[in-house]
Amino acid sequence: MAEQEVPPLIRSKPMNGGDGPHSYSKNSYYQRGAIEATKKMINEAVKEKFDLENTYFNTSKTIQIADLGCSTGPNTFFTVENIIEAIILKYQDEDISTSSKNLEFQVFFNDHADNDFNTLFRTLSSPPKYFAAGVPGSFYLRLFPQSSIHFAHTSYAVHWLSKVPREVIDENSSAYNKDSIQCSGFNIEVAKAYASQFKNDLNNFLNVRAQELVPGGLMVIIISVLLDGVLMAKSTIGMCYDFLGSCLKDMANLVRNYNP
Ligand SMILES: C[S@@+](CC[C@H](N)C(=O)[O-])C[C@H]1O[C@@H](n2cnc3c(N)ncnc32)[C@H](O)[C@@H]1O
Repeated sequence: MAEQEVPPLIRSKPMNGGDGPHSYSKNSYYQRGAIEATKKMINEAVKEKFDLENTYFNTSKTIQIADLGCSTGPNTFFTVENIIEAIILKYQDEDISTSSKNLEFQVFFNDHADNDFNTLFRTLSSPPKYFAAGVPGSFYLRLFPQSSIHFAHTSYAVHWLSKVPREVIDENSSAYNKDSIQCSGFNIEVAKAYASQFKNDLNNFLNVRAQELVPGGLMVIIISVLLDGVLMAKSTIGMCYDFLGSCLKDMANLVRNYNP
């Protein structure tokens, strides 16, 4: 690999596993709030748009659901249970033929291979309400066969870029992100470099999902955004990142100047 080349984050840092006080499972209430807020929208979308009769189904009437960037739970369990509930509700309401009521659900939990899948599967509900499977790998690449997923869901995950844009760590570039660990928004060239990487990544994400979703399938994307005109550095989370960045710099300086 050339010296300056930035490796893609194929083995990205996972969320803290387990269920201890510092684990993701004990520190993801904020994300849970957003997932709860979309429950009603998912119910409405399924009611209006999800159509068993017109959607590709295999002969066994199995509905395949994927949660992309699932981490360890409990948010991912809550998510897929909401989706399953919405689908069952729709078909109960419509009182359609018995064969369609005998639906079975298969859920694919996707995340990077370094994710704590052990905790995820250990904490699955018992008895299971669906057939569960883990799918390790980057969601910027193909994960499933052609036209096989009926409902894809992802929350708080697609703002994770596949790699650091090369320019932001190149000291000779006008987009060099000197002294910051985030895209604060103050340097327009830095912002452009991150925006361009996000555009590429999202494009890849949508292209591969377009191949994997059945015609008529549904996809829900929950993502963090900033309102137009608001700089990251002025947002609450941006202020936290600046604070974190300054601590990291102090630590790095201590190590650099350490002289026993
Ligand atoms: C903040 S967690 C969100 C977990 C859960 N969806 C929620 O809303 O609580 C983001 C997850 O996305 C995963 N992730 C980031 N980039 C990914 C990628 N390219 N492919 C698969 N998973 C990815 C991370 O490993 C992490 O577990």
